[in-house]
Amino acid sequence: EKGGYPSFMEKEINDQPDAVAQTLLGRSDADGNLTLDEIRVDPSVLKNIDRIIVLACGTSAYAGQVARYAIEHWCRIPTEVELSHEFRYRDPIVDENTLIVSISQSGETMDTLMAVRYAREQGAKTVAICNTNGSTIPRESDAVLYTHAGPEIAVASTKAFLAQITAAYLLGLYLAQLRGNLFQGQIKDILAELAKTPAKIATVLENADQIKELARSMADTRSVLFLGRHVGYPVAMEGALKLKELAYIHAEGFAAGELKHGPIALIEEGQPVIVVVPSPRGRDSLHSKVVSNIQEVRARGAKTIVIAEEGDESVKAYAEHVFYVPETSTLLAPLLTTVPLQIFALELASAKGFDVDQPRNLAKSVTVE
Ligand code: BG6
Repeated sequence: EKGGYPSFMEKEINDQPDAVAQTLLGRSDADGNLTLDEIRVDPSVLKNIDRIIVLACGTSAYAGQVARYAIEHWCRIPTEVELSHEFRYRDPIVDENTLIVSISQSGETMDTLMAVRYAREQGAKTVAICNTNGSTIPRESDAVLYTHAGPEIAVASTKAFLAQITAAYLLGLYLAQLRGNLFQGQIKDILAELAKTPAKIATVLENADQIKELARSMADTRSVLFLGRHVGYPVAMEGALKLKELAYIHAEGFAAGELKHGPIALIEEGQPVIVVVPSPRGRDSLHSKVVSNIQEVRARGAKTIVIAEEGDESVKAYAEHVFYVPETSTLLAPLLTTVPLQIFALELASAKGFDVDQPRNLAKSVTVE
């Protein structure tokens, strides 16, 4: 059942090309146009949506944070991501023009279910992104977009995360198509790029030996910082979460730009810092700013570990270790850059002898508030 792998976690990390491919399957027609029949919300209602709130917990919330960049960029609809358990208690502004997108692997997380119920009572339309057929959150939502990652057994989420990002991107493209925010050709191009990601994830998995070796050599590490910018920021937080969950190591993810406003005080000789670097081909000088951040922490003694795009030579001078992922567009990069961070946490936890499938104190689905 573990497919020859020593743990479900390792199997599920290796299942990721398939998890993304399955989530894309059947959602575009022969001409490469998006078809998302399962969104059974009246198109005229969706055309009037003036706000999107993504509700989720844990890793699913980081998938929402990644998706937010794409949804706002493609649809021009203000989008926020809120932890389900915080949402209800702030007297949120929700009405019939609000689209609630819940993200839950299990579909049973009580915090998220209660938040969805609350939003529905306020008149909001609700779409669930979920990995578990017939579970409670989809049943209580107006529509469901299933991630087809297959059953996820390990408590800490991996393949569901990539499938959630994929599904949320499809939803964003669907809204952009419906509302005329993108040309059909642009949507086709993005779908074509998405279709190439499973093979690229497979490449990352095939080239994982060095990051495994590094992780095993770091079993005594007490703290790891993760930095990212734009979509790399939630990826950094997810990388930190994986390390906490699996290896019980103190880890924090920061927005790289925030470094100078506080976290840089943490940097001392030997502090490991893992930096998720955006593509040098991307817009807005994101890349050069993150490279400056690597220099800043390095100058203060940090041990710099960098995840960068294949061909990006500029990071080599400042990184003790560089791990490359294949080229893709800025918005799709999380589907690749997350994978080495998952492997890093898995290997480090394994080196410490921990049960990576059943980390202490955690449950796969938390059905209490
Ligand atoms: C946590 C799980 O308790 O719930 C995490 O341990 C998960 O792995 C989180 O990300 C949210 O779960 P779900 O099922 O709502 O995605």
